Amino acid sequence: MTIINSTEIDAVEKSIVESRLNGKEDGNLDNTLRPRSFAEYIGQDKIKKNLDILIRAAKKRKEPIEHILLYGPAGLGKTTLANIIAKEMGVNIRTTSGPAIERVGDFGSILTNLQDGDVLFIDEIHRLNKVIEEVLYPAMEDFKLDIIIGKGPSARTLQLDLPKFTLIGATTKLGSLSNPLRNRFGATHRLDFYSQGEIKKILGRSAKILGVEVDDTGMEKIASCSRFTPRVANRLLKRVRDFSQIKNHKSIDSAVAQEALEMIDVDHIGLEPTDRHLLITVIEKFGGGPVGLNTLAAAISEEIKTIEDVYEPYLMQIGFLARTSRGRVATENAYEHLGIKYSNNQDKPLHQLFH
Ligand code: ADE
Repeated sequence: MTIINSTEIDAVEKSIVESRLNGKEDGNLDNTLRPRSFAEYIGQDKIKKNLDILIRAAKKRKEPIEHILLYGPAGLGKTTLANIIAKEMGVNIRTTSGPAIERVGDFGSILTNLQDGDVLFIDEIHRLNKVIEEVLYPAMEDFKLDIIIGKGPSARTLQLDLPKFTLIGATTKLGSLSNPLRNRFGATHRLDFYSQGEIKKILGRSAKILGVEVDDTGMEKIASCSRFTPRVANRLLKRVRDFSQIKNHKSIDSAVAQEALEMIDVDHIGLEPTDRHLLITVIEKFGGGPVGLNTLAAAISEEIKTIEDVYEPYLMQIGFLARTSRGRVATENAYEHLGIKYSNNQDKPLHQLFH
């Protein structure tokens, strides 16, 4: 075990805080690591194969590709895939998100500024408001934009022809999409968590781009803490790199990675302080659950959306948290991981669970 002094800790912590303040991980650096083609993209083989056929057939017919819906947990590469699709089609991509489109006028101007074949990428498409959704239907189906001019009895509708664009929608919550919207996509693909082997390959590629030396044991260590998610893997790699640079290590092995990960409080299966706080709260404050999402969010001072999109998917994937009709429940595996004695509350009357 190497001793790290307080200046070194400050430097690593500063870099961690800065990276979190940047929102979507490390801003530009994250972009550098994004694969630009199907050839560079590791994993999601079935989706890649399907999309490749879709693209080649559309190119042969000299037509735009059908509207595509991508869904699955955050950080698995939905935005990356949308960018690759546009690149392989040789068209422009215009990126926006459901909550960012507030007014029909703004949306109209996005649509009319597209060119034939262009990709319109709407992230978090389940958060589009209903009025915008109504405008989207004829735009997707007939490439028409209906505009209402004026108010009251003198109001007139005007129909504009739109370029033949391709909509790519991305969502973490397929169930929150209305049926009419979901049915207007020609292809729907679900992104799955990556395998440990795929995450190792992604780390190998990223390490090369970042110019850091990581041996196989280091790669294995970081991969096993990456929640089977490329975005997390790349973020951890950068933090481990910061640590190893400050410590003047030439190469990152399992021990260096382990020490760095311990410092940023990531445990051996990739749980971070908030994950543990969430589980411990379910167990200690709510007798292991069931506890409603709203109550849980208030108890740990997190937004409901963050719990649903960031924390829950992995905790459910590894079987630590279950969703029941009465709320969230911590499983026996979660108790075991946290070193808390398991007690099965399922048979207890509700009022006892809250004492
Ligand atoms: N970086 C992030 N996701 C990736 C992926 N799927 N393949 C290669 N590099 C990546």
